[in-house]
Amino acid sequence: MSEKSTRRNFLQKIGATTLVSAATPLASLAAAHKAEERMLFYERKISSADKIRVGVIGYGVQGHIDLNTALKVPGVELAGICDLYTGRIQNALETHGKDLFVTRNYKDLLDRSDIDAVIIATTDIWHYQMILDALAKGKHVYVEKPMVYKIGQGKAVIDAQNKSGKVLMVGSQRVSSIGYAKAKELLAAGEIGNLNMVNAVYDRQSSIGAWEYTIPKDASPETLDWETFIEATNKLAYDPKKFFWWRAFKEVGTGVAGDLFIHLLSGTHFITNSLGPESIYSTGQLSYWKDGRNLPDVMSGVMQYPDSPEHPSFQMTLQVNFVSGTGGQHALKFVGSEGVIDIQGNNLKVTHSIMPEAPGFGGYDSVFTFSEKLQKEMQAEYDAKWTEAQKRRPEKEDIVFKVPQGYSDHLDHFTNFFDAVRTGGKVVEDATFGFRAAAPSLSCNESYLQKKIIHWDPVKMKLKS
Ligand SMILES: NC(=O)c1ccc[n+]([C@@H]2O[C@H](COP(=O)([O-])OP(=O)(O)OC[C@H]3O[C@@H](n4cnc5c(N)ncnc54)[C@H](O)[C@@H]3O)[C@@H](O)[C@H]2O)c1
Repeated sequence: MSEKSTRRNFLQKIGATTLVSAATPLASLAAAHKAEERMLFYERKISSADKIRVGVIGYGVQGHIDLNTALKVPGVELAGICDLYTGRIQNALETHGKDLFVTRNYKDLLDRSDIDAVIIATTDIWHYQMILDALAKGKHVYVEKPMVYKIGQGKAVIDAQNKSGKVLMVGSQRVSSIGYAKAKELLAAGEIGNLNMVNAVYDRQSSIGAWEYTIPKDASPETLDWETFIEATNKLAYDPKKFFWWRAFKEVGTGVAGDLFIHLLSGTHFITNSLGPESIYSTGQLSYWKDGRNLPDVMSGVMQYPDSPEHPSFQMTLQVNFVSGTGGQHALKFVGSEGVIDIQGNNLKVTHSIMPEAPGFGGYDSVFTFSEKLQKEMQAEYDAKWTEAQKRRPEKEDIVFKVPQGYSDHLDHFTNFFDAVRTGGKVVEDATFGFRAAAPSLSCNESYLQKKIIHWDPVKMKLKS
C-alpha cells in the first residue's frame, strides 16, 4: 500500500469512533449538556516483521524505556548497548544476557555491520555528534528530544539526514498519539472556531520530578567515563551530580525548556501543522531545588505564532513549576473563538462556548445609567432588530475522546520509525520537525539567560537579529 493510502486508512480508522455512551436524548437541558464520550478506534498495523537489529547508545532511564518499547515492535532485535557508566553496562548484561555486545565507545556500535538502526538516548549534548556519525555509517537513527543541544547544530543534522537517505526520527512520542491525531482533525474541522491561544503547563512537586534521580553509591571516576561524557562540551571538573542530574546544569543540560517545553511544542506543532513561532520570551527563577543547579525550577515562556497558511496567528504560553502546590499538573489547551480542546495525556475533551449573533444590551451595561425614556426606546429598537434566537448563545455538546486502556503512543512512535526503515516511508517527526520544535525550546533558555526576546524565522529555520 502506498504511504499516502496507508495514512488515509489510518486517519479513517481514527475517525471511525465508537460511541460509548448511548446517544443522548435531548429531552432535558441537563441531558443536552451531558458530555458525549467516545472511545478512539485503534488498530496498529505494521508493514512487515522483517528483522531490524538495533543498538542503544545511552542506557539510562529513557534508554531502558525506549529499548523495551522498541522490542515490542515485531521483528526488532537488540544487537548491542553502549553506556558510560559501568553499572548500566552490568544492568544490560543482566537483562539481555552475558553474550550481548556492550561497549563504552559508541563508535564500536556504529562499526558493526549487523546493526541497522541506533537509538540515541544519551544526555542532550551528545545527540548532534552521534546523529552525524551514525548517519555517516549508514545507520537509521531514533534520537531522543531535543534533537540538538545548540540551535546552530540543527541545519547540519537536517542536511545529513537528507544526504544519507536514512530514516531519522526524533523521540517526542506524543506526536504519534491517536489522541493528538484526533485533536488535529477536530481543530482542522473548525470544532473550536479559530485558534488564538495554546496554554501548556507541566508542573511537578517531587525531588524525582525535579530531576534529583538517585545517584548510585559506586559512582566514581573509575565507574563513570567522565572524560568522554564532557568531550562534547567544555572541560569540566568531575562531578557525579552533573553526570546523573545533567538536565539542571546549563553546561551539560537544557533545563526545563529542553526537557519539557519541547514536548508541549512538538505536540502543538503536530496538532496545528505549525512551522513555529516568530518571537520567543522566557523568564525563570530558582525557587526551591537549590542543589547546585544553575537553571530555573520555575519557568514560563510566551511565544507568538504568526498568521500563516497552516493556521491563524496564536499565542502560546508555557509553564513549568517544580515546586507546585497543585501537586503537579499537565495540561495542553487549544483555545479557539468557539471552544477549547483540552488534552490530558492521550485523551481529550472538547467544550464549546459560542458568542450570540446579537451584540450585548442591558445587564452590566451602560444602559441603566440613561434616562428611563431612552432606555425604553433603545430596548424596543434592540428587540425589533434581534430575534430571541439571535440573542442566545448557540448550544453545542461537549465531547470526550478516550484512547483504549493500555494504549501507548510510544509504541506507535517506534512502529512508525521501524515501518519507515522497512518501507523507505516517512516518519512523523523527522529532523526538520525535530529542529522546528527544538529551536524555540532552546531559545527559551537563551531568552532567560540573555533577558531578551528571541526572534526566529520559522520557515527558514534561522535566528533573526
Ligand atoms: N521522550 C521522552 O519522553 C523522554 C523522557 C525522558 C528522557 N528523554 C530524553 O532521553 C535522553 C536521556 O535521558 P535519561 O533520562 O535517560 O538520562 P540518563 O542520565 O538516565 O541517561 C543518559 C545515559 O547516557 C549515557 N551517556 C552520556 N554520554 C554518553 C556517551 N558519549 N556515550 C555513551 N553513553 C553516554 C550516560 O552514561 C547515561 O547512562 C535525553 O535526551 C532526554 O531528554 C526523553
